[in-house]
Amino acid sequence: SILIIDFGSQVTQLIARRVREAGVYSEIAPFNAAAEAFERLKPKGIILSGGPSSVMWEDSPRAPQHIFDAGLPILGICYGQQTMSHQLGGVVAPSESREFGRAYIEISGRSALFDGLWSEGETHQVWMSHGDRVERLPEGFSVVAQSEGAPYAVATDEARRFYSLMFHPEVVHTPDGGRLLSNFVRHICGCPGDWTMAEYRQTKIADIRQQVGKGKVICGLSGGVDSAVAAVLIHEAIGDQLTCVFVDHGLMRKGEAEQVVSLFRNSYNIPLVHVNAETLFLSGLKGVDDPEAKRKFIGKTFIDVFEEEAKKIGGADFLAQGTLYPDVIESVSFTGGPSVTIKSHHNVGGLPERMNMKLVEPLRELFKDEVRELGRELGLPDAFVGRHPFPGPGLAIRIPGEVSKEKCDILRKADAIYLEEIRNAGLYDAIWQAFAVLLPVRTVGVMGDHRTYESVCALRAVTSTDGMTADIFPFDPHFLARVATRIVNEVQGINRVVYDYTSKPPGTIEWE
Ligand code: XMP
Repeated sequence: SILIIDFGSQVTQLIARRVREAGVYSEIAPFNAAAEAFERLKPKGIILSGGPSSVMWEDSPRAPQHIFDAGLPILGICYGQQTMSHQLGGVVAPSESREFGRAYIEISGRSALFDGLWSEGETHQVWMSHGDRVERLPEGFSVVAQSEGAPYAVATDEARRFYSLMFHPEVVHTPDGGRLLSNFVRHICGCPGDWTMAEYRQTKIADIRQQVGKGKVICGLSGGVDSAVAAVLIHEAIGDQLTCVFVDHGLMRKGEAEQVVSLFRNSYNIPLVHVNAETLFLSGLKGVDDPEAKRKFIGKTFIDVFEEEAKKIGGADFLAQGTLYPDVIESVSFTGGPSVTIKSHHNVGGLPERMNMKLVEPLRELFKDEVRELGRELGLPDAFVGRHPFPGPGLAIRIPGEVSKEKCDILRKADAIYLEEIRNAGLYDAIWQAFAVLLPVRTVGVMGDHRTYESVCALRAVTSTDGMTADIFPFDPHFLARVATRIVNEVQGINRVVYDYTSKPPGTIEWE
């Protein structure tokens, strides 16, 4: 495996993903827990991430010094390059400005990093970070790529297998970055490239059997991909020692609840308790129009209902959850202080604090795209595995203002038309998330000879890699016109459709 030491860059997770795409398991550890992780993992190589600090600051973060004496290959990226140079006796000079951008570097020497990829004299595009600069290289290092603004774009000590980059190979704007990282982990570090979801499935099945023994497990299904994949995997390991509980809050999209129930009961024969709690949720939401109040009520009620069902089932020792790696990674924070709550998130992950049960979390090591791959490996239908994310509070946060059954039904119809058109146009997989929002605004329209006075529906579609930032999806205007026409014609209660042109930031993806 590969250890990635995190110095707080926004894109450290991408390093881990690129390394895993090369078929090599990688873990991220914050710099101040790196020594421990190094002992535990016994990695074959180390990557030092970027970060916002300056090597010149007092107390700026360092890699544990002893890793440089371990005889292992090390790759330093951006801040990683600087601290590596500094820790090995080079000189780093401060710079006033820090900026990032596309740059072209010229290859001026040979390196194992470039094998089969880049040759001397060529020019290649990279995503450069201009922060502090290495002024004098440590002994043994030489420059193998440079640009005008970056004399040490790539500097390496081939004998000791130390490599340092001033640019970010992990981002898409460095087109060959994934292959550079693959060269590092596969050829230089000698990792075999056997990290596949087929392997993972077998390993986890053994782990789950060992952890659970003859115990009983319950798993809360949300209707989403993560909890479904976790449940199918656990069922494969321990069969009917697993019971799934699907709390149906009545705020799902059209046909979604039925789909989950039939998938589990009919295709997989997994014992499933389907709790229809629509009335409970909708009556509790009556008169509630504040977004946070809605979220809090739904989150709390979900846990109450789940707990009650768990009691009825009785005797469960374990709670299964679809926790993913990004939720587990300890992040490096330099800002101190609590961060502002934009939205209080609700999903099935909120359960364990309340219920005194041991956790089974078979997806803890995986990124979202790996979970999808594992789902396919387990035979879940493509259309299910590839579904857009859907928030725990469901349609309630897509109906600004008070929620009612009638509004949910109207929204479900409009949303289904929108998604159907997106699928028919072959655009579904190019979009991170697309959905309709029902606004608490009525406007005047005309249909035939009649005046109408009905609600406005907003359409949203964004591209994103992790939901943290998002860009609007640039539909062809004819496509949007067709969707708008269909919605107004087919959905009673809506007479106007608008498209949301806000990126995130400053907008969020959901409206509430
Ligand atoms: P926002 O609206 O904050 O959403 O830009 C970012 C991503 O998170 C999803 N989301 C949620 N997921 N429980 C969830 O499991 C929630 O309460 C929740 N709220 C938002 C949202 O759909 C988007 O993918």
